[in-house]
Amino acid sequence: MLSADQQSTDSERPEAAALPIVLEGVEKFYGGMQAIAPVSLTLAGGEAVSIVGPSGCGKSTLMRLIAGLDQPSGGEIRIGETVVAAPVADMGIVFQRDLLLDWRNVLDNVLLPAEIKGLQGMTPRALELLRELDVADFAKSYPWQLSGGMRQRVAIARALLAHPGLIFLDEPFSALDALTRDQMNVLLQQVQASRNATTLLITHSISEAIFCADRVIVMSGRPGMILDDIRVPFERPRRLAIRETAEFTAIGRRIREHFERAGDLVG
Ligand SMILES: Nc1ncnc2c1ncn2[C@@H]1O[C@H](COP(=O)(O)OP(=O)(O)OP(=O)(O)O)[C@@H](O)[C@H]1O
Ligand SMILES: [Mg+2]
Repeated sequence: MLSADQQSTDSERPEAAALPIVLEGVEKFYGGMQAIAPVSLTLAGGEAVSIVGPSGCGKSTLMRLIAGLDQPSGGEIRIGETVVAAPVADMGIVFQRDLLLDWRNVLDNVLLPAEIKGLQGMTPRALELLRELDVADFAKSYPWQLSGGMRQRVAIARALLAHPGLIFLDEPFSALDALTRDQMNVLLQQVQASRNATTLLITHSISEAIFCADRVIVMSGRPGMILDDIRVPFERPRRLAIRETAEFTAIGRRIREHFERAGDLVG
């Protein structure tokens, strides 16, 4: 049993400071195949950035490099002042497949990163996140008892548990139906708005990329290069209705034109 002291320490830790991410001439080869052409890019601390690009253009690779899960063949990535050379500790990550463990209930899945990091007394924090993500009623359920959207809510709660300064999402909603995906888009931008974390979202959906971000990076087909970098002007909180505004559709058109020009169809 944990002492009351321990219970308060980790769970009440303030949100970590959002750190900027700087990429300088980052490239990646797999054998002789160039997956990413040299990319230079700066994400400001606390910025929410989406990346769109054709399948196979190196989006997931780029995210893995930034997360320190793989090393670039050339160039440098810094988070704050630190050069990324190993898996980044201060991050939460969500994938298309939620990777929940079927033999653990929802609460114990959310607590997994705390166990791995040796953080104590995180149960109140985990329950609070489940409430924020509207799945608190399922804390004692098992992942196989949940719908796809609910599973992704749990995966997001797990990613947020340790107050990460960096949140990475690789096509988190691609497997969901359109209505659930809309709900998750609203939820994600609420989560972003109430935190000070630098967020990177990879998606094939142009409207999701715009709706969830302050900035959309458009990548070319392989080897991935940056074709465009678009500021998204809408205030937060955002409602789905902004997707029908002329300003929103104009950004969508600008993104789509890059792919039509290249013959790559996305979203
Ligand atoms: N570990 C690996 N070993 C060899 N090649 C790899 C590896 N990971 C990715 N690649 C190759 O690098 C290229 C970029 O892959 P990546 O998964 O980053 O693309 P992506 O943009 O995320 O695609 P998608 O939209 O389909 O998820 C692809 O040609 C892929 O086959
Ligand atoms: Mg990918």
